[in-house]
Amino acid sequence: MPLPATPTREFITGLPKAELHLHLEGTLEPELKLRLAERNGIDIGQTTVEEVRATYEFDSLASFLAVYYPAMEVLQTPDDFYELADAYLARAAADGVKHVEMFFDPQAHTSRGVSFDAVVTGYHRAAAEAPEKHGVDAHLVLCFLRDMSAESAAEALEASVPYRDKIVGVGLDSDERGNPPEKFAEVFDRARDLGYRLTAHCDIDQEGSIDNIRTVLDRIGVDRVDHGTNVVEDPALVDVVRERGLGLTCCPISNSFVTDDMKATEIAGLLRDGVRVMLNSDDPAYFGGYVADNYVALAEAADLTTVEVVQLARNSFEASWLTDEQRAAYLADIDGYVAAYEADAV
Ligand code: HPA
Ligand code: ZN
Repeated sequence: MPLPATPTREFITGLPKAELHLHLEGTLEPELKLRLAERNGIDIGQTTVEEVRATYEFDSLASFLAVYYPAMEVLQTPDDFYELADAYLARAAADGVKHVEMFFDPQAHTSRGVSFDAVVTGYHRAAAEAPEKHGVDAHLVLCFLRDMSAESAAEALEASVPYRDKIVGVGLDSDERGNPPEKFAEVFDRARDLGYRLTAHCDIDQEGSIDNIRTVLDRIGVDRVDHGTNVVEDPALVDVVRERGLGLTCCPISNSFVTDDMKATEIAGLLRDGVRVMLNSDDPAYFGGYVADNYVALAEAADLTTVEVVQLARNSFEASWLTDEQRAAYLADIDGYVAAYEADAV
């Protein structure tokens, strides 16, 4: 019997997936935020989950970031960072995530007096335990804050050198407006020389989005692009992305918060054009959806077939920074899952 024509939540949840666009600081759920605030004696101005949620009012990248960065104050010790990452990894596992490449923003912590070591030590302990504890293979990606200087990014990069074996790549996040990728071209060159993989946010509907996508492809030489959905504005650039097999890490629920829709037409169009897009949760504690919710939301909005949903999951491993051998094993797991599902449905 063939797969169901319409993908169910149950099918989506069980489907092996990689998550490639996930900010650890964006997984800080209100309950943990309050607990850490109390433990560290920090007054965040709210004392209940409802009060915390009431501050989650944003309709743009900038208004989201204005809520997002101040909340990080509750993160102080290696244990805090560990608990944050561990809670996310447990939640991701429940959504069928088998492999994750997790962003973190060291400058958001070192700029307020928390050591680089505390951040990486805490996050890395959770990542190291994750295969056994949660059945998830977890890696760290250091992001530079693009609204800070290139010198500050370079400092963060040099601070990472003693932790080189704990970090797989570097990225670029925060406010894109007025902070185009060329500002960080030399920092990325140095990161490549250090052996890091490279990615960069090209956020949705930014001023100069299409120029910034061109820059990250041609000047920075990224291995993938975070969001990058505005590439549809230039069909020649879509061809470049397809031909290079570059992943675009799309986040439909996040899009619906920072712009006026989830960009379902654009994401599904790219998928159907053979571009390596996949779905991710970005900042799930703030946008109210983990990775399976993103698959369900896009499947409904764009009428995806089950075969298309399976292709998204395949793309998530294809675009990952796994070794060829690991990638092949996960792709075989997807084949096995689909085959078992078909057998069960008979
Ligand atoms: N874009 C830019 N900065 C961010 C994002 C994003 O999607 N999420 C967390 N910081
Ligand atoms: Zn992001």
